[in-house]
Amino acid sequence: MKALIFDKSKTDWQTSKGFELVDVPEPVLDEKENAGDSEYVIMKVHYAGVCGTDKGIWNRVAFKDAILNSIDQEGNSKQKTVNSNQQTADSKQQTGNSKQQTADSKQQTGNSKQYRIIGHEFFGEILKVGSNVKNIKVGDFVSCESHVVCQTCYNCLRGQKEVCMNEKILGISHDGGFAEYAKVPQHIVWKTNTGKIRPEVAAMQEPFGNAVHAASKVNLKDKTVAIFGLGPIGLFLTIVVKGLGAKMIIGIEPNPVAAEMAKKLGIDYVVPLQNTVDSKQNTDKQYAHNQAVTDEIKKITNGIGVDVSFEMSGFNSSVNNCLYATRRGGEIILFGIKTGDFVFEDFNRLIVHGFDIHAVIGRQLWQTWETTRALMENTENGVQEKLFNVILDRGHETILPISDYSKEKFEEMMAKHPKFLIQF
Ligand SMILES: NC(=O)c1ccc[n+]([C@@H]2O[C@H](COP(=O)([O-])OP(=O)(O)OC[C@H]3O[C@@H](n4cnc5c(N)ncnc54)[C@H](O)[C@@H]3O)[C@@H](O)[C@H]2O)c1
Ligand SMILES: [Zn+2]
Ligand SMILES: [Zn+2]
Repeated sequence: MKALIFDKSKTDWQTSKGFELVDVPEPVLDEKENAGDSEYVIMKVHYAGVCGTDKGIWNRVAFKDAILNSIDQEGNSKQKTVNSNQQTADSKQQTGNSKQQTADSKQQTGNSKQYRIIGHEFFGEILKVGSNVKNIKVGDFVSCESHVVCQTCYNCLRGQKEVCMNEKILGISHDGGFAEYAKVPQHIVWKTNTGKIRPEVAAMQEPFGNAVHAASKVNLKDKTVAIFGLGPIGLFLTIVVKGLGAKMIIGIEPNPVAAEMAKKLGIDYVVPLQNTVDSKQNTDKQYAHNQAVTDEIKKITNGIGVDVSFEMSGFNSSVNNCLYATRRGGEIILFGIKTGDFVFEDFNRLIVHGFDIHAVIGRQLWQTWETTRALMENTENGVQEKLFNVILDRGHETILPISDYSKEKFEEMMAKHPKFLIQF
C-alpha cells in the first residue's frame, strides 16, 4: 500500500526533510501470530489531515526522540519474538521438522521494520475487526483518538487518559494514518455518522477536539479573549470561543491568509505580527514579548488586558506575549509545543499578577469527542459550514490526492493553506 513515512534506515534525521512516499506491506490481523491483534481493527483511510505537528516532523524540529526511539523499540520487540521463534525452531529441529521455520525466522530478522508511518488525524471505513472487538463492525465510518493509551496506569484508571503514563501517539510512536490502510486498537476508534458529518469535516475531529479541550479549561462567557497563533487549531478555537459567548476575540497572527480566515469566522480583531525577532531591540532576547503587540491588545481592551489568553503557536515570545497581554488575575492556557527550554520573562510578574495558568494536552476520552460530535452534528450553529466552506475553502486546492504527492507540492500546500487533507 502507499504510505508517507520517515525511514530511519535510509534517511538521516539531522540532514533530511519531508516524508517519503513508498509502498509498504498492508497491515494484517494475524491472531495466531499475535494474540493482541484480536483487539485491533483495520481501516481504509479516506482523508487524513495535516497539522502543525506534521509540519514539525517534516522540518525535523519536533518529536525526534519519540520517533527514533519508538522505531528502535519496535525493532527490539520484534527481535525478541524472532529469538523465541528461533528457540522453538531449535527444539523442533531435534524432532527433525523445523528447517523451514528457521529460514522464516532469519528472513524476519533481516526485515526488521525501520520506518514510521506518519499522520494522526484521519477518517475512513472499517475493513476488518479482530475477534475481541466489540461495538465496531465492518463498514462503520470512524476516526481515531491519536493517543493510544494503556487503560491500566494510575492516570488511566482515574479517568485522566489524556495523560496516560504509557501512551503512544499515532504517527509518532505508533504507525499512523498517512497510508491507504491503518491498523489501530479498538479503544481509540470513534464512530462517526456520515449522515450528519461530512467526511472531510470528520477527518478534522481530532484537532478540533484539541480546541474544544483547550476552551473547556475556563468559563468564556462574556470574557475578552486573545488567541496567539491562528494556525488550524487557533482557527478552530476561534469558532469554539465565539460559540461559548466570549465578548470579544483578538487574534495574533503573522500569516495574512490565516488572519483573513479568522475574520471570516467572526474574530473581532487580528493584531498582525511582523518579523517578531528582528523587530526586537535586543536580539539576544528572542524569547521576549513583543511590546507593539501587547500595547495594541491593551489599547483594544481599554488599558486592561484580556481576561483569557490562549497560546496556540508554540513560540517562546508568544508565551511571553500572553503574560503581558492578560489582565491581573486573568487566565492563560498554554497549548503550543516546541522542543527545548523556554524563558518566562520577568518571572516575578507572573506570580504578582496572580495568573491562573493551564497546560492542555490532547483530548479527554471521551468527553471532548462527545462535545466535538455535538458541535459538528448541530445544524444550527454553522460549525460544519465554517470548517468546510472557510477553513477548507470548500475543498478548493485543499485536498491532495496521494497520487499527486511530491515533496514540492506538499511544501507548497503547507505554506498556502492553514489546513489541508490528503485523500487516499
Ligand atoms: N497540546 C497539544 O495537545 C497539541 C496538539 C496538537 C498540536 N499542538 C501544538 O499546538 C500548536 C498549534 O497547532 P497547529 O496545528 O495550529 O500549528 P501551526 O504550526 O500550523 O500553527 C501555528 C500558527 O502560529 C502562527 N505563529 C507563528 N509565530 C507566531 C507568534 N510569534 N505569535 C503568534 N502566532 C504565531 C503561525 O503563522 C501559524 O499560523 C503547535 O505548536 C502544535 O505543535 C499541541
Ligand atoms: Zn494534529
Ligand atoms: Zn495509561
